[in-house]
Amino acid sequence: MDNGKVRIAFFDAKEYDIASFEKENADGRYEIKYFEAKLSADTANLAAGYDVVCIFVNDEAGADVIDTLAASGVKLIALRCAGYNNVDIEHAFGKIHVARVPAYSPYAVAEHAMALLLTSIRRIHKAYIRTRDFNFSLSGLTGFDLHGKTAGVVGTGKIGRVFADICRGFGMKVIAYDKFPGSGNGLDYVDLDTIWEQSDIISFHCPLTDETRHMVNADTIGRMKKGVVIINTSRGALIDSEALLDGIKDRRVGAACLHVHEEESDVFFHDFSGHIIEDDTLARLISMPNVIVTSHQAFLTQEALSNIAATTLSNITQFFGEGRCENELCYKCEKVGGCPQEHKKLCF
Ligand code: NAI
Repeated sequence: MDNGKVRIAFFDAKEYDIASFEKENADGRYEIKYFEAKLSADTANLAAGYDVVCIFVNDEAGADVIDTLAASGVKLIALRCAGYNNVDIEHAFGKIHVARVPAYSPYAVAEHAMALLLTSIRRIHKAYIRTRDFNFSLSGLTGFDLHGKTAGVVGTGKIGRVFADICRGFGMKVIAYDKFPGSGNGLDYVDLDTIWEQSDIISFHCPLTDETRHMVNADTIGRMKKGVVIINTSRGALIDSEALLDGIKDRRVGAACLHVHEEESDVFFHDFSGHIIEDDTLARLISMPNVIVTSHQAFLTQEALSNIAATTLSNITQFFGEGRCENELCYKCEKVGGCPQEHKKLCF
């Protein structure tokens, strides 16, 4: 902060990030250096001399990276996303503060989940390619009505609730599971077994934790209805991809709509057209006629990008200007009982 400006090292910068952050920083109150590289143990040294690192979903802030950042004077990891499974927040405690953007547009993600579902079950992706080739045959394009079907929503926070509302608009029955179910939101909460056994469509909107990692596995897939449609717009590792492939080959899984993939960080957000993909699991998933993959795209609306930039910079302003940050995270914040500071002060 030699010139009084907070210096931000911005990792994994894409042209849409730069556009939205430059618009939000039009008065130049921050000094932002955009790095194409993702944050990792190999690139953490780039942040030397900066006050903040700004990172996204596939940057890595494990213990070693946190130690490097703290030693080089970085005071804040400003996540420009909601999920924080890529940051070792327990290790960060006492060394470096962490803030996130808890909500930027739950509508963007929930609407993308429904777009994937409709595309998949009405075969829009196939019809689009066919008609571009002047093939107007309807063979193989039979879908099914959503009306009257049961949607199982796992995780009923901001995004899950919007998705549930959208499903209700289609005349679907919605059942829900949440580890911490809310009250008064009109949702019909059931246990996970009931979700697996009764849902025609299951959509995941819970965080990735040790408990939720591979919650879709050979055992749970075996308990699902034949023909179930699985939608994952949360985090890839909620699903054991190999078990999903087996479920698809066994014809138990009718379709999968994946906008996240467990090993996405080496692939997503990059152009590999014309290259040989090393990830065999992803290649096999993509080769399946009933699998749709989008590359972590659900957040990508103008509204969401603008909210991300505004909230990230406001987190930084609060942190340096007010000595507190309402979107700060620590490992105590997420535990029952919570952080004693309650965002009135910094977590430590
Ligand atoms: P949120 O924090 O509002 O809701 C998460 C819900 O999951 C909460 O109700 C919580 O009680 C519940 N939950 C926690 N542990 C659980 C468990 N073990 N089993 C079932 N439910 C559990 O978060 P929001 O904004 O709705 O986002 C949900 C997830 O979606 C995030 O954790 C993130 O990983 C992902 N996400 C993906 C985006 C994308 O671009 N695809 C964008 C934003 C979030």
